[in-house]
Amino acid sequence: MPDAPQSEVTATPASPLRLTIAGASGAGTSALVSCLRAARCRRPLVIADAPDGETHLDDLVAAAATADAGLLVVEASDGLTAAVRRQLLQLSALGVPQLVVVVNKMDGVGWAQTPFDRVAAEARALVDELGLSAAIVVPTAAAADENVTSRTGRAPWYQGPTLVAALEALSAADDPGSEEEARTGTDVADAFEATIVWTEAAPLLPGRTYLLRTATATVTASVVRLKYKTNPANLQRLAATTLVRGDVGVGNLKLERRIAFASDRGRRHASGFILLDQVSGRTAGAGRWHFALRRAENVHWQTLDVDKTARAVLKGQRPCVLWYTGLSGAGKSTIANLVDRRLHDLGRHTYLLDGENVRHGLNKDLGFTDADRVENIRRIGEVAKLMVDAGLIVGTAFISPFRAERGMARALLAEGEFIEVHIDTPLAVAEQRDPKGLYRKARRGVLKNFTGIDSPYEAPQHPDIRVDTTVTTADEAAEQIVALLRERGFLGI
Ligand code: ADX
Repeated sequence: MPDAPQSEVTATPASPLRLTIAGASGAGTSALVSCLRAARCRRPLVIADAPDGETHLDDLVAAAATADAGLLVVEASDGLTAAVRRQLLQLSALGVPQLVVVVNKMDGVGWAQTPFDRVAAEARALVDELGLSAAIVVPTAAAADENVTSRTGRAPWYQGPTLVAALEALSAADDPGSEEEARTGTDVADAFEATIVWTEAAPLLPGRTYLLRTATATVTASVVRLKYKTNPANLQRLAATTLVRGDVGVGNLKLERRIAFASDRGRRHASGFILLDQVSGRTAGAGRWHFALRRAENVHWQTLDVDKTARAVLKGQRPCVLWYTGLSGAGKSTIANLVDRRLHDLGRHTYLLDGENVRHGLNKDLGFTDADRVENIRRIGEVAKLMVDAGLIVGTAFISPFRAERGMARALLAEGEFIEVHIDTPLAVAEQRDPKGLYRKARRGVLKNFTGIDSPYEAPQHPDIRVDTTVTTADEAAEQIVALLRERGFLGI
């Protein structure tokens, strides 16, 4: 968008003030909003709030991106509850530049000064720690329009402005970055550190790819390292392996390609982004860049003289990955092993990566939480890609329960090279077989996060081949898979 002409940038009385409202439920936010909407304000107020008066995280995130100021509504008798502290942290993480704290329902505490002073002191301390510009704290009883548009006679101890007067005095936050400043603050990079506010019910999993959208670009991105999350109660840094809904954390992100963004010193809007879930397309989080990571520029891709085609030609085959997926005990390893045997007998060059074996070496640091499974599959995807590059026909036998990571592994390879094989065994059958006694343990609660019991399995929607093991023997399945490879031209060139 072109910049507004100078005359509009300097805050004239008529420039609108965009407010994002957050508040504890029951703090009287709806009454406050209607009072503000009805108020004759010298600056038009653009108020983003939730229709039912409860602040939803998604609305907060959407509104905060363009807000000039945040309005935090606190109930006088409750003070800064854990929920309010969290909202304040989120507002600051989203870059809301200035804050007005409304201590509402003052009538509920008889317009006494002590509870107001306590909330005001707590709020100021927190705002200070968060590095926001000092907050204005206003006592109100919005239901009776006391101290919203007109002064109340019930608080002689309060000398400050009414809420509307306080809002009118705020600066338009977005204007100051001059062209010059914005330009010097612009960076082009594919790796950077950022603050993230997570809004989706499913947690953020490092290593999973999401879509990252800025004002000017949309790219796939993943959090390669989560550095910490912030405890809203005391702003201390906590070690974190995931972010759950409402969390605010800091991590390093890697993008599929370089994009331009403004660093913190530049204009605020240009430093913000949202993260979308690749499968559902829903907004999953929002964030702000801190700075580019130079490492990204200093690691280059080395082009090798002997390439994939050269290696494959020598072997007289076309490389690919047979990606087996299915429940524990479905028969993945058994069938993959039979296929590998047959291919070997046909003189093909193969390698089989098997869950149990890889978890003893390369992935021995990983367990079975969602985050660890994502990382397990990410590494397997990368290793399989290298092996395909070496010209091999690669089998991977892992539960690989999530569509997102199977999609990621597919995306690492060339068109047609990823062959998804669903070893489809109903849970009841796998559980009855229970070759390792693990289902029994999981049912007894001794083994946590077991796939199919208390951890999800997302079956492929369009596998290249589906083996129903209740009607197909392992030998028949292996035969079918080899036939598919032959049909698609992988066995000879
Ligand atoms: S994946 O989900 O990350 O793809 P992977 O295939 O590597 O899993 O490992 C699955 C194997 O680990 C199972 O066949 C089973 O023998 C063993 N295992 C141990 N704990 C679990 C668990 N909680 N859930 C699933 N499998 C488990």
